[in-house]
Amino acid sequence: MKKIGVLTSGGDAPGMNAAIRAVVRKAIFHGLEVYGIKYGYQGLIDGNIEKMDLGSVGDIIQRGGTKLYSARCEEFKTEEGQLKGIEQLKKHGIEGLIAIGGDGTFMGAKKITEKGYPCIGVPGTIDNDIPGTDFTIGFDTALNTIIDAIDKIRDTATSHERTYVIEVMGRDAGDLALWAGLADGAETILIPESEDNMDEVVERLKRGHDRGKKHSIIIVAEGVGSGVDFAKQIEEAAQLETRVTVLGHTQRGGSPSASDRVLASRLGAHAVDLLLDGKAGRMVGIQANKLVDHDIIDILNTEHQVDLDMYRLSKELSI
Ligand code: F6P
Repeated sequence: MKKIGVLTSGGDAPGMNAAIRAVVRKAIFHGLEVYGIKYGYQGLIDGNIEKMDLGSVGDIIQRGGTKLYSARCEEFKTEEGQLKGIEQLKKHGIEGLIAIGGDGTFMGAKKITEKGYPCIGVPGTIDNDIPGTDFTIGFDTALNTIIDAIDKIRDTATSHERTYVIEVMGRDAGDLALWAGLADGAETILIPESEDNMDEVVERLKRGHDRGKKHSIIIVAEGVGSGVDFAKQIEEAAQLETRVTVLGHTQRGGSPSASDRVLASRLGAHAVDLLLDGKAGRMVGIQANKLVDHDIIDILNTEHQVDLDMYRLSKELSI
């Protein structure tokens, strides 16, 4: 293998730039040529491809977002779109591809691999919803962004003795809500993986209030539903003055944490090693702090599990 490509696809995540840098530098270290594909699979279809060198990834390890831009591409889900992408790989002489993103990105990687072009997936998403890796690139930074916001909200919640509902991202996964709630001592955490009884939530809030608790923080994962709707229900049922904050895309931005930079560097470099070893259709990950790789098909067929022991612990600690 002499020439490889790299792309980022789906929702951006802090640390993607560090992963791109690791891919480019590791590949050049091993004497490969690297091509950056802009705007994910859309850029592959459109031939938005340019050669990268050591300098093209200078000064990006600390930056959020992705230097290669990203897109969610419907066309690449079709056979026609995939064939257009393969044509571009042929045209540029690219023999292998590294795709950084979430499960949608891995579906594209699987299709390309099946068409004879080895592809390796690198998990990059703030949602932490990818099986086969303890952490995805961007999760730690997004978590810290949420914690920072909740700490600030807690100050005003205390001053006004209010209940605050904070809606966080995560798509269908509750990891961001759970970790943020545990890290911030939230009174209630609602995640899609657990069906919580509204009466029980209200009961807990009232109990806390009667015990002299002056404010409450409730974290709602977006997969459960709208934080705004939930706040209305709380206000009516518990008769507590409630405010709501939807953190939205602030969670996707910002300079990556040290953990995300290190994780991205390790995973990006490992992906290059796998291509050089002749592997295809794999996803790299980290488990118990060891680099691992799994068949992308297995990853796509496995449901992500949130840590329910941690969820139970969060309830025990917020009695
Ligand atoms: O997958 C990352 C994520 O930020 C999810 O948490 C969220 O549901 C989704 O992307 C939002 O997507 P978009 O930026 O396309 O609105």
